[in-house]
This record gives sequence, structure tokens and C-alpha cells, in this order.
Amino acid sequence: MAIQFHESDRTFHLYNDSVSYCIAVTKYGHLAGLYFGKRLRDRDGLSHLLEYSGGNQSPGFYEDGVEDPSYSLNEIRQEYPSFGHGDLRQGALVIGQKDGSRIMDFRYVTHRIYDGKPQLAGLPAVYTEEDGEAQTLEITLRDEWLQTDLILLYSIFNDYPAIARSARIECHTPEGITVLQAASACLDLPDSGYEMLELAGGWARECHMYRNPLRPGIQSVYSRRGNSSSQFNPFLALLRPEATETCGEALGFSLLYSGNYLAQADVDYRDVTRVTIGIHPDGFAWPLAEGQSFQTPEAVLVYSDEGLSGMSRAYHRLYSRRLVRGYWRDHERPILLNNWEATYFGITEEKMLNIASKARDLGVDLFVMDDGWFGTRNHDHAGLGDWYVNRDKLPQGVRGLAEKVTALGMKFGLWFEPEMVNEDSDLYRAHPDWVLRTPGRSASKTRHQWVLDFSRDDVMENLYQQMSAILGDAPVSYVKWDMNRSMSEVYSAAYPPEQQGTVYHRCILNVYALYERLHAEFPHILFESCAGGGARFDAGMLYYAPQGWTSDDTDAMERVSIQYGASVVYPLSSLGAHVSASPNHQLSRVTSIATRAATAYFGTFGYELDPNQLSAEDQAEIREQIRFIKQYRHIIHQGDLYRLENPYENNGEAAWICVSPDRSQAIAAYFRFRQHITAPLSRIRLAGLDPDADYKVSYCRNSTEPVELPFGPVGGDELMQYGLITSDSRSGIHNGIYPDREGDYLARIYLLEKL
Ligand code: DGJ
Repeated sequence: MAIQFHESDRTFHLYNDSVSYCIAVTKYGHLAGLYFGKRLRDRDGLSHLLEYSGGNQSPGFYEDGVEDPSYSLNEIRQEYPSFGHGDLRQGALVIGQKDGSRIMDFRYVTHRIYDGKPQLAGLPAVYTEEDGEAQTLEITLRDEWLQTDLILLYSIFNDYPAIARSARIECHTPEGITVLQAASACLDLPDSGYEMLELAGGWARECHMYRNPLRPGIQSVYSRRGNSSSQFNPFLALLRPEATETCGEALGFSLLYSGNYLAQADVDYRDVTRVTIGIHPDGFAWPLAEGQSFQTPEAVLVYSDEGLSGMSRAYHRLYSRRLVRGYWRDHERPILLNNWEATYFGITEEKMLNIASKARDLGVDLFVMDDGWFGTRNHDHAGLGDWYVNRDKLPQGVRGLAEKVTALGMKFGLWFEPEMVNEDSDLYRAHPDWVLRTPGRSASKTRHQWVLDFSRDDVMENLYQQMSAILGDAPVSYVKWDMNRSMSEVYSAAYPPEQQGTVYHRCILNVYALYERLHAEFPHILFESCAGGGARFDAGMLYYAPQGWTSDDTDAMERVSIQYGASVVYPLSSLGAHVSASPNHQLSRVTSIATRAATAYFGTFGYELDPNQLSAEDQAEIREQIRFIKQYRHIIHQGDLYRLENPYENNGEAAWICVSPDRSQAIAAYFRFRQHITAPLSRIRLAGLDPDADYKVSYCRNSTEPVELPFGPVGGDELMQYGLITSDSRSGIHNGIYPDREGDYLARIYLLEKL
């Protein structure tokens, strides 16, 4: 890994064994993007990669009597284009100025290359543990007229095909400026021969994969909901049309941010594709006085020539090792049971203990008490904001219950929703001005709640005091941090008019700050983020909470699509996934407990039901499931994921496999939504195995008991080239492999062991 500056043609080359990222300083000092992709040899003379020419109707360079019509910023691939000076496309930076102008012209001044990677104050960022793991390039550009500096940060890691980028704007003019847009990264690609992949959906249907060819103009994903949203995930990928899960080129753009964002691909008339990703400019305006600076969130760009799964594996490795922090990064996550779908708001100490003790009996490690334990929270009309125990429900307090649960030999976890308030709450009665809204106007409610004005430090401080009091008083090992609505009517009574454009971002900064304080004070606590399921399931959150509740949809078959899509960026160790009751509470679908477990195994495994309501057989099955997943979860959490069959296509099947780093063990899942009679034969081509080795292949129908397939060991090459047979007797063939009539909503787990 290295970052080289070639003085002769003023080019930068950032490279490691897999990728190169090249930048040039043009003859007039602008910063041009040369290349991002598979590793190039390092040499002088890379600047020829920049094609440029004057274009009809494109503004040509003119300065101090020098006219150069062949040089137009509108025709040059740029690193961080700013508004108004020759480039007529959508840019990365917009700055409002005292005279009303937004025109800028940033030119190269200097650069710095150093070992390691800086942290970004108050923001999530990937990190190094030793300086030798990464190198950083900081390029300073200046607009002399505006007396403003733009510092672009690039870090490249030794071991990951990734570049972390962000930007900082420093104001040196006594007149001050207002940052109206500042992307985290911009990448101009020389052609548009890509398809854009996005993760989109809605509440309880998050992260479905959509892939469409690029076309001229802008295609984008975004959030203006105050959180990163369940509608679009803050991520996009560009794939060559021929790229599949296992081969071909893929470029990933992931934003480490949990608030409003915009990520877009803009194809211009020359087929140049400009990708920008960063804070959404709508509702954003950050004034800077002389001496102040603004740091953007970080974006992580990944290149893979091993298809989409290759890109995902790069994100998984980087994010699980160098974004997730603290004790829980390196420890197996506890198997938890959450009471939400068992009791909803109907919490009593007796019910909690009944559930917890049965859960303990079945082998669960952690009991989590969800919404309903505090204030007057008997329903969703009241109580949010009052984070002290409801003694009618828990006469001995949280501590009393937590101690009893702990005495059972399990850990205890608790639910909070710190950013919200109900009108019917002591907090609201005491501080009606702490709600986000314009004074004198009403504000919409969702789930009967308002959003607290987290841009205010006193609000954050109050929540910190309340939460820290509970967490310091009782043996709490886990916190589920929920956020059940989007932000609307975003206005803060605490700030003057010219600061209103800072409120969205300040809210997120204070969420991060509160996490940071609690993290520092309670380093052993495992945080799970949640936002009515996956409305804030993003890379930014992973820095504070190593796992997130992927979706409020706990139906096993729906979860296949949701987890399949979420795994495009996020490691399986971060996807909260639980076995819930059947019929399912969201869809009334009936599935076997084996099918439910098969989906939930491929995440951070847990339960969301009342185990006392289960049959003796299901209870016995749960005992086995916990034993089973503890034996194999290291392959799922530390191994390599290969997605094999896409659930969104019409054949109604899905499959994936996790392979241990040394390829000696693997665990695969195959799902079939509907069984058809005399159906086409089916097989799944596995991936990631050692082609030269033979594997013992076992299959678990009941999610636990592996039965070796009848034909003995199979070659890794056969499994990857021909495939693993999944047809059954109803399909018209029976190899004696699978039992007859397995039916709809089938899940099979396969275990592979290298001989
Ligand atoms: C939404 C979450 O996603 C659920 O799991 C549960 O915690 C409820 N909120 C509680 O209100």
C-alpha cells in the first residue's frame, strides 16, 4: 500500500494490492479524477488518463487574458466539483456568500501524505489500530477570492479494496460563508456502461435490491426524513451489466451517516458518470464564521472485480473489523430473547420473569425488556420522555427485575427511544419547547409522538442523565435504541433564523454524541440500533451500535429478501434476526420453527416470542437451535458470504453460503417459497469452496440435526460448477435425498466440511 505523488505530471496514485485511485492536478490547478478500479502499476505519466477537450456550449477557460477554449471544467472529470465556474453539471459543493454569489473556483495549493487515518470529530469513521494499516492523503485547495480552503481527505487501507473519503471546508474570510452543499465524495467515471443497484423499500420491507441500467440524467436515492430511512439505504453500487454476484466489476458507495442524505449517479452528454454521495442539500445550510470549519461525514468506496458478493465481502470485512468498535467487535454476540411480540406493552414483573426463566431454561443468554417499562407507557399514546420505571408494572424497579434475571444466569437488556416524546409525558409538560416545530405552529405526530429537538445540548444532556441513571443503577448489558418516526416540521426554537439549516445535522451529531458518552461510561453494554426496524440501518450507526434491528417484519420468508439485500453492505454479524411466533404477527403466515430459525441464523440470532406458549416439541427444537448456532455462528459472523440465488426473481427460491476463511467449513441456506409439482429440476451452484477438496455435505431439515447426503463426499468443484441438487420428489425426481412433501416456505440448511 502506498500513496505516491508524481511531481513530473502532478498526479497522485493511491494503491494497494487490489485497487488504484488516481488524481491529477490540471495545468490550471483544478483537481481531476483519473481512475478508480483494479490496481494499476505505479509510474510517472498517469495524467494521460484524463481526456479533455472543449465542448460546444461548454464554458472555456479564460483568466488574466489567457483564453484556452480546449479546457472546460464542464468536460473534465473532477474530484470535487464546485458550483458556478464552468462546470454546469450537478456538483459536490455549494457555498453561499455575503454578496449573494455562489460561484467558486478552488485550486490546488498543497498536500500532505501520512501514515494512519484521522478520526473525524463527532462523526463515525473507519479507523486503524496501527498507523501501518492505512495511509492518508490530504489535498488542500483554495479559492483565493473567497478566502476559503477545501481539504479533501483520502485514506487507503493495506488490506481492503476501499478508499475512505471526506471533505472539510475552512472559512478564512471575515465576511463568513454558508455551506449549502458538501458531498462526502464525488467520483467522475469515464463511461456510463453500468447498472445502478439500490437498496429500497419501506417500513417492514427494507433493503430490497433494485438494479437498473444507467440512463442520461440523474438517478438517485435519498432521505429527507431525518434518519437514513427504510425507503432507501444510504448506499449505491454501479455494476457492469455483465457483473453477477460472483464475477464482474462492481463499485460501491456507502455513506457513514444516519441523517438526510443524497446519493446519485448523473450521466452527462459525453457518457461521463458522476457519482456524488453526502448530506442532502435540502434543508441544509451551515454558516461558517472566519476561523470555523465544516467536516463532512465519511463515504467508503469499494471496488471489486469479483462481482457484487466480492464488493459485499470487502464491506463486511472492513466494517466488522474497522468500523464496529469496542468489546463486542471481537466477541460472540449473546443469543437474546426480546419480549415485544410476546407481551407488547403488557409488561409485569411476573410476566417478564416467566418469559426470562423459560428462555434461560432453553439456553438463551440475554433477556431484553422492550417498550412499555417506563413512565405511563401502557400504550403508545403516553410515556415517551419519562425514562424512569413504572412501579405499577415493576414494583422492584428495573434493578429488581434485572437482578432477578441476572440471578437466573442470564444477561439483562433494556429498550429506549431517547429522541422522542409523547404529549402525555412529564418531560413534555415540563419542556413543551423541546419539540421540533416552529413556535406557534402545530407539528404532525406519528405513532402519537413528536421528535425531541436533539439539536439542543440541554435536551441531549437531559436524556443522558435519565439514561445513565437507569444504566448505572441496574445490571444492564444491552440497550436497544429505537427511533419510531421520521422527523418533520424541523425547526428549533433554540437557534436564530440563520442557523435553522443546521438543525437536522445537529440532531444527528447529538445522537452520535449521546451514544459516545454512554459508550464511554458503559463500555460493556451491547447497543442494538433500531428505527421502527431498519429506518436507521446504516454504516454510521455501526460505529456506535455493532448490530441493528434489520426490520420490524419478523416473518421468515419476508426476512429472506430483507436480509439478502441488507447483506449487500452490512456484515451478517450486524443484522438483528429473531425467530418469532407462528402465525407471524405482521403477515399471519404460518411457517415451521425450523424455517424461522434458518433465516434468523444468518444474523445476530435471537427470539421474539413467549417460549411458554410453545409446544414441548418447539421448545425442544429451540434448545437444539441454540446449541446448533453456537457451534456454527463463527462461520456466519467471521466467514465469507456468497449470495447464490436471488429471492426477488420469479423462481421463488433463494440461497446463500458462508464459508470459513480457510474454506474448511461452510454453512449454506436454501429457501423455497412455493412447492410446485413436476417442477423444473433445481440445483444451486455453490461458491467460495476449495475446488480441489472434497466436502462432506450434510443437510438439516429440522434446523439442527445434520444428515449426510446419501452419495458420500462431493468435490468442491462439482458443488460450484454443477451445483448442489435441491430438487425433490414433487419436482419429479427423487434421489432419496429429501423427504417427500416438504411443502411451501421451506428452508434447508446445509453443512459442508472439507475432508
Ligand atoms: C419498533 C421496534 O422495531 C420494535 O421491535 C419494538 O421495539 C417497538 N418499536 C416498540 O415500540
